[in-house]
Amino acid sequence: MLNFEFKNTTEILFGEGQIKQIKERLKPTDTILFLYGGGSIKKNGVYDDVINALDGFNYVEFAGVEPNPTYETLSEALSVVKERNVTFILAVGGGSVIDGAKYIAAAAHYDGEGWDILVEGAQVKSALPIGAVLTLPATGSESNGNSVVTKKATQQKRAFSSELVQPQFAVLDPTYTYSLPQRQVANGVVDAFVHVIEQYLTYGVNAPLQDRFAEGILSTLIEEGPKALVDAQNYDVRANVMWSATMALNGLIGKGVPQDWATHMIGHELTALYQLDHAQTLAIVLPALMFEKKAQKREKIIQLGRNVFALDKADEDALIDATIKAVQDFFEQMGVKTRLGDYELGAEAVEEAIASLTNNGFTALGEHGDITPDVAKNILTLAL
Ligand code: NZQ
Ligand code: ZN
Repeated sequence: MLNFEFKNTTEILFGEGQIKQIKERLKPTDTILFLYGGGSIKKNGVYDDVINALDGFNYVEFAGVEPNPTYETLSEALSVVKERNVTFILAVGGGSVIDGAKYIAAAAHYDGEGWDILVEGAQVKSALPIGAVLTLPATGSESNGNSVVTKKATQQKRAFSSELVQPQFAVLDPTYTYSLPQRQVANGVVDAFVHVIEQYLTYGVNAPLQDRFAEGILSTLIEEGPKALVDAQNYDVRANVMWSATMALNGLIGKGVPQDWATHMIGHELTALYQLDHAQTLAIVLPALMFEKKAQKREKIIQLGRNVFALDKADEDALIDATIKAVQDFFEQMGVKTRLGDYELGAEAVEEAIASLTNNGFTALGEHGDITPDVAKNILTLAL
């Protein structure tokens, strides 16, 4: 096992009605930015619950953070933060709103152009505190320090990470996910699945506990994900999906083990260029990446096939191929298409995505740093 440090500072408030607890976690002296997305919370009752919870507090609303939040919109929210002397951000929504809150929180305390935090690696030295009310289980953003922001003007989708922007608390109420469209339920399950894979499907370092954690989350997503598509108001199913997605990227399972993240990095280019949903890009890239890297990932693909998909084949090469197909079939079963062609993208898109990956400097991806632009091109070509 590799050396590691581990601390997760987010207090999880899990279960129906837990929003009521946020009152005790806010200061009466705070000026709160209530940040949300395109309005789904106004249709499903979450907005009313938040307004009730904020009764008596001083707050200002900012709506309109879009999926794959943009620097442009977040800059408007940042102006509000500065004008109104906001001291706390309450992010209510999916990963996009929470990621947006993190950018605003860091940029508010950054003496310079906020975009530098994303492209120049400018260090976050302090940030506004954040709380999250999660409405879409997917990204794990509610209890990690990661944020992904897109600059519309340059079609760049970039990430930063800082423990200073990790939410102080996160409300995880499964009933808030009942209103999700099937596409977003499926996206969330696929995203969480791939988060686990990025921290599991590398090479063995004799870390069986991390492996069992990862396999447990993958198995839960495979069992519960399809149920969530057919039974929207099943509390237990939604609760299990929600907790799985949080555990997939709250830092725990990745400690002491190598990590990959190439699927995400290649996928981000496809979203930035063609506005595909984040999870759609992952469903395209991952099976092809597994195929391209099957020699390096051999041991772990076999383990995935046996322990998660219960595949039983004496021939290891056949087992590897069957495991890759099982992953692809699971995404398709969730209704997330796995080929570029399914999204009307062809060879030109491959060229553009690789050019963008190269321009952004992502030329040595994967757990071995050996996914060069040429290898990434093979991967996307396999996914055509
Ligand atoms: O904007 P509203 O109206 O709220 O609608 C949203 C949005 O259209 C809707 N939605 C959310 N909760 C709902 C709901 N609709 C009905 N009922 C509800 N309860 O769903 C749509 C998508 O929301 P979004 O927040 O964009 O989805 P997601 O949570 O998948 O977040 C995606 C973003 O997170 C980034 C992605 O790159 C992408 O930008 N990621 C963040 C990570 C992190 N911070 O650790 C890691 C991930 O790998 C990922 O990169
Ligand atoms: Zn993701």
